[in-house]
Amino acid sequence: MKRVQIAPSILTADFGRITEEVSSVAPVVDWFHLDVMDGHYVDNLTFGASTVAAIDRAVDTPLHVHLMIENPAKFAPVFAEAGADRISFHPEVVDDPAAVVDLIREAGAEAGVAVHPDSDLGWAKRLLDGVAVVLMMTVRPGFGGQKFLAEVVPKIAEARKLVDQAGARADIEVDGGVNLETIAQPVGAGADVLVTGSAVYDGRDPVAAAIRIRERLDMLAKEGDR
Ligand code: DX5
Ligand code: ZN
Repeated sequence: MKRVQIAPSILTADFGRITEEVSSVAPVVDWFHLDVMDGHYVDNLTFGASTVAAIDRAVDTPLHVHLMIENPAKFAPVFAEAGADRISFHPEVVDDPAAVVDLIREAGAEAGVAVHPDSDLGWAKRLLDGVAVVLMMTVRPGFGGQKFLAEVVPKIAEARKLVDQAGARADIEVDGGVNLETIAQPVGAGADVLVTGSAVYDGRDPVAAAIRIRERLDMLAKEGDR
């Protein structure tokens, strides 16, 4: 069974010392999940390509940029240039999502399709061949620290079946409200990568928090949950 990976979202990290916040945790995690918000697609504004470039300089860990913005086609190449290894976007905001997938890949990053809690897997199905990640959102886009939406878990299992039956290479990444209490649910439904934002960065010791999550995942793997 594939080892489930950890991708901390930096949304609730201390931006006054963001490079230390990522460098300290980097040895214990597999990705960093960088939530870019434009204040239009969601009612929050976070950071741009210069922050992604600073993080890219600080760590070797691969970077997954999650675009919660109105114009992913315009900005995806900028984030690829800044060092994003993966770039996910919300297909509902563009006329031609397949063209955006191609554009991300031409810019040198792997593409991902984000599935809003209210959306079905229609776009994930249609874009499956071209994407490296299906980003299953288990919170409403916009903020870290929200409650895990358990009603999305059956859709995660459906996405797992979809990827496996298609023999597709896409990772299933679960994003939002994942912590020590909720982690068994996305793992049991077939997640490959877990975004852990506040579960890592809200406490006093992000490294210890990340280690605890890793230990829990290794225990679940031993118990045969994954
Ligand atoms: C929400 C973001 C998520 C969120 C994860 O719009 O896409 O990545 O920040 O943070 P937690 O793990 O705190 O829910
Ligand atoms: Zn995200």
